[in-house]
Amino acid sequence: MFLVKKGLNDLTQAASHIPREIENAVENMPAISPVLGKINKIAQEMETSPRDLVKIIMLDPILTGKVLKLVNSSFYGLTQKVQTLAQAVVYLGVNTVKNLAISTALLSTVFVREKQSPLDPDEFWRHCLATALGSKLLAKLMKVDKDDLESYFIAGLLHDVGKVLLIRTDPARYAKALSESRKLGVTLAFAEAAHFGISHTQAGGLLARRWKLDPFLISVIEDHHSLVLDTDRRVQNMVVVVNNLCKATRAGESGNCVVEEMADDIVMISGLNDDMLNTAADSIPEEVEKAADFLTLIREQGDE
Ligand SMILES: [Fe+2]
Ligand SMILES: [Fe+2]
Repeated sequence: MFLVKKGLNDLTQAASHIPREIENAVENMPAISPVLGKINKIAQEMETSPRDLVKIIMLDPILTGKVLKLVNSSFYGLTQKVQTLAQAVVYLGVNTVKNLAISTALLSTVFVREKQSPLDPDEFWRHCLATALGSKLLAKLMKVDKDDLESYFIAGLLHDVGKVLLIRTDPARYAKALSESRKLGVTLAFAEAAHFGISHTQAGGLLARRWKLDPFLISVIEDHHSLVLDTDRRVQNMVVVVNNLCKATRAGESGNCVVEEMADDIVMISGLNDDMLNTAADSIPEEVEKAADFLTLIREQGDE
């Protein structure tokens, strides 16, 4: 392992000064399922007991229903209908169900259909889903342990969550940041910081810390536009690469017009190669189509 950290600019690091309006926006995010904290707690234990996980998720019947709906969607392609969480764990494994419960609990909160959102919510979540699916796909090609694949999925899904917070804070101002970044060809994080005093990576970090997410997810959210060359940061590195791949291939719309060159350095240390990246680029649109049910269910959650 070697470590070189180059701050691309100070705007993508963890926030040192948090503007008052952002603090308020964090406070005003809708309440997330109270079981999330408990799931996070056991998620950070080395071995998660299936029975404990099922017991905890079942404390929230709405969450249980949503997880079962997703488990039975065509995304997972199960041949038999799953009636209980215990069955879901048997078919999909404890890690998949655990991460599915975490993403479902979070997305129910963050999928806000802001009336004047300057980023089309469907296209935005398509970008997040494409990053999730692409990260998992490449992890599979890298022969990552089956039990760890879902970590790549959830990391890709949540990496840009800070944009939701900034859009909620002031959609009109976010629209200005978006159009300025396009006009001037600067990164969206840079334009966000100019308009809000904080970028989406920093804003996302505040949410992730409030939600007490696993440290690797916090660093994915905070560092996915920073160049951190560290071979041990496998999930983080993958999300940086796939985020850029999705931007370059226009899989969804992240709002950021800049495809970052730093991803090339990270590709190099990650053991990825052109064949793998081409396979991912070719497969992501199809994977997103297969996962369309996932987006529909997320959307329904947001509309409730
Ligand atoms: Fe981002
Ligand atoms: Fe992104």
